[in-house]
Amino acid sequence: MVKKICGIGAGYVGGPTMAVIALNCPSIEVAVVDISHSRISAWNSDKLPIYEPGLEQIIQQCRGKNLHFSTDVEKHVYEADIIFVNVNTPTKTGGRGAGKAADLTYWESAARMIADVSRSNKIVVEKSTVPVRTAEVIEKILVHNSNGKVEYQILSNPEFLSEGTSIQDLLNPDRVLIGGNDSLKGQEAIQKLKAIYANWVPEDRIITTNVWSAELSKLADNAFLAQRISSINAMSALCESTGADISQVSCVLSKNTKLGSRYLNASVGFGGSCFQKDILNLVYICECNGLVEVANYWKEVIKVNDYQKSRFVKKVITSMFNTVSGKKIAVLGFSFKKDTSDTRKTPAIDVCKGLLADNACLSIYDPRVSEEQIRRDLSMNEIPWENSIMAEAMRFDGTKQVSVYEDVYEATKDAHGICVLTEWDEFKEIDYQRVFESMEKPAFVFDGRNVLDVDKLREIGFIVYSIGKPL
Ligand code: NAD
Ligand code: UGA
Repeated sequence: MVKKICGIGAGYVGGPTMAVIALNCPSIEVAVVDISHSRISAWNSDKLPIYEPGLEQIIQQCRGKNLHFSTDVEKHVYEADIIFVNVNTPTKTGGRGAGKAADLTYWESAARMIADVSRSNKIVVEKSTVPVRTAEVIEKILVHNSNGKVEYQILSNPEFLSEGTSIQDLLNPDRVLIGGNDSLKGQEAIQKLKAIYANWVPEDRIITTNVWSAELSKLADNAFLAQRISSINAMSALCESTGADISQVSCVLSKNTKLGSRYLNASVGFGGSCFQKDILNLVYICECNGLVEVANYWKEVIKVNDYQKSRFVKKVITSMFNTVSGKKIAVLGFSFKKDTSDTRKTPAIDVCKGLLADNACLSIYDPRVSEEQIRRDLSMNEIPWENSIMAEAMRFDGTKQVSVYEDVYEATKDAHGICVLTEWDEFKEIDYQRVFESMEKPAFVFDGRNVLDVDKLREIGFIVYSIGKPL
């Protein structure tokens, strides 16, 4: 019987995932641990470290009952029957495979710690997204660092939640994937984990596979989603050259039951902590296996994404008479998508840096992202991936030319142009007549998410550019 679960890593995945397990399994003690004291104290406070609709209510319901947040990592690992490892697996920034391979430093240190403190048999669950065959490495670390008395079963149980809808995704997942090995003990471990999910997930949605298939399926899943966005974004460029309208093209494609209706929204580019990282990880694995053509195929997905961001920047600059130097441009939205405060790999960073490199003055408004976060993101010099056409802009730090506002009307006052970079619902409700009157003329709108009513804006007097639509 599983009495206690420990989740290592209290981030965007660890926090919500473990909270939903606690909610649905009241007889199981769930501890979420992290080495970051500030993260754990935020989880124990009224201001949670991440914003997700519905999360606060679950935390209030379970925290202090069967859900605990703690920095006492060793104690909770020692006591747990099942350990979910939810640590970050970013792209390596130095050494072999830098800029592509997954950095497993955090995973490895978690595995070494588990081996050090465990005195009873454990099921170790890979929740983080990892390269295929990571379980093999983890097993070696665990087995070679244990006293021989502890048995480990390693399962791959990748997470498919999306930020902004993570609670709904976790409460009602389209699938739960569990990969384990074929041995009797491997199969028993799968059944134990399956029984936990079966408390709220219909059994026919719980898929079991071997470990390698589960690990690779997660990378494939993200690669396919990102590929679809790059496909529609590539089409959006063609629409602009031919007079076709990307919304109409998307609508036609979405009615094809063979294609399905989702992930067909053209945008300024995909962002988020995972799509680029996981594709680069896939590319690296292909290269290591000598599959150069396959690696090159997936690289194109990221190349098109970079192209889309740089195309947007170019459109803003060329439309505004080939210079934005000294012009105030209001940026509406900074998070990588609506309903999240997460800015990791948000296209807004690259677009802002591209405009700053042409000497623009930016006034940024986002309903959920703090000024401190925006400034940190814009001053960071990220290592560009090998083929990045955004490389030059990414090195640019122009935070002195940036102001951050808490009010959309202040942000847009005296601006020459507006760039909508996140599809926050509230941007549809803005009084654009009032905004127009307070702006310099001609007043431009560049809708990087195709969320605004173009006809209405043009009626007011704006010059409007939308992705993949006729001017
Ligand atoms: P995150 O950075 O928000 O959280 C990771 C946490 O792990 C951090 O708080 C960090 O302090 C902690 N940590 C690192 N090493 C530790 C250690 N040795 N002991 C204890 N704590 C440690 O990352 P995230 O967004 O939650 O992503 C985690 C993993 O899940 C990644 O592999 C990611 O690819 C995958 N994933 C993320 C999402 C998402 O939407 N963010 C969705 C599916 C899968
Ligand atoms: C994505 C996947 O959807 C999840 O299944 C996966 O678990 C997760 O990555 C992960 O592994 O981290 P997430 O990045 O949170 O989830 O958000 P998405 O809704 O997939 O959006 C990603 C980016 O694509 C956003 O910038 C979004 O604005 C953009 N997007 C999405 C588009 O430009 N067009 C679309 O049609 C859909």
